[in-house]
Amino acid sequence: MSKKPIILGIESSCDETAVALIRENKEGGPEILSNIVSSQVDIHKEFGGVVPELAARAHIEKIDLITKKALDESRINLNDIDAVATTAGPGLIVCLSVGINFGKAIAASLKKPFIAVNHLEGHALSPKLNSKIDYPYLLLLISGGHSQYLSVEGLGKYKRLGTTIDDAVGEAFDKTAKLLGVEFPGGPQIEILAEKGDPTKFDLPKPIINKGGCNLSFAGLKTAILRISKNIKNEKDKYDLAASFQKTIEEILYKKSKVSFEEFKKINGNIKKTFVVAGGVAANKKIRKMLTKLCIEENFEPIFPPINLCGDNAAMIALAGLEKFKKNQFDDLSFPVKPRWQLDENAVFLKGAGVKI
Ligand code: KG4
Ligand code: ZN
Repeated sequence: MSKKPIILGIESSCDETAVALIRENKEGGPEILSNIVSSQVDIHKEFGGVVPELAARAHIEKIDLITKKALDESRINLNDIDAVATTAGPGLIVCLSVGINFGKAIAASLKKPFIAVNHLEGHALSPKLNSKIDYPYLLLLISGGHSQYLSVEGLGKYKRLGTTIDDAVGEAFDKTAKLLGVEFPGGPQIEILAEKGDPTKFDLPKPIINKGGCNLSFAGLKTAILRISKNIKNEKDKYDLAASFQKTIEEILYKKSKVSFEEFKKINGNIKKTFVVAGGVAANKKIRKMLTKLCIEENFEPIFPPINLCGDNAAMIALAGLEKFKKNQFDDLSFPVKPRWQLDENAVFLKGAGVKI
């Protein structure tokens, strides 16, 4: 049997330093050999958000140690790697530069191919780490910097159907958390607080819910939370606001996903319909449950990555690398960092569509 390709994946686009090794399995899918993620939450907590220069410094301090750990855990020798896949964008330029230069140096010294990966393509493919998915599929990408509906036609072939015109969903979670006095990163905490509150207590706005196709908008919601949060008197109010916010997000995503289903059907006709939800916010259990219900109603198959692979990781980068490796899609060592790299390069650039803030 010929040797199955092994890919080293490196991710450093924001505040996670991550390295993973994956090998192609007998079925042509990925087997995760190791997947190390070092979060910088403790560094950025006191500032209430990611500080780019501190993030870059932490990547520099950690990246070689994390790589050694990933190699040790996988029991793979560096010389046995077939290619190095590294996130080249979108993200914070100073952070991306650390990972891409480290990845290029390893590839050059081993004389192995270098593969530049779009971070969003990593998220888009992440459910393939545990499920078999055929193209085309409909993708809802919801993370800290992005909120988009995309028709995924093949590797590297994306058609954007809708995007946020202002804030990303994860950003709305994080900003709400901040206003409620919850420590950064607040998204996962809001989900927990919401469990204790009354979701009908506050009637919050759902911007552009009945217009704009499957485009999204969360800025008006954030402004409403800001106003209400000033009058919060006790813990009960806080739980109720978190619950009302969580419910509002669910209702927006329910409605807009329904619109995106129609758009997807218009483009792809009457084929098997798969709805993939990926990105950090896809870890939200109530959002998963609500979108699963919608899929049952609308005859789409729902697919989510495992909860631990929703947030930033390098297994998804290595997987994108593996798919490109199998198609001989290699990149030159002069490949630049692309802080605003969009998945659908024909789509108009909008803030939420391709850049992390
Ligand atoms: O994909 P990700 O790790 O990083 C980016 O590429 O942006 O997503 C991070 C975002 C953050 O805004 C975080 O608050 C949000 O995902 N998030 C959640 C949950 N877990 C992470 N939001 C809501 N509920 C969660 N359980
Ligand atoms: Zn991400």
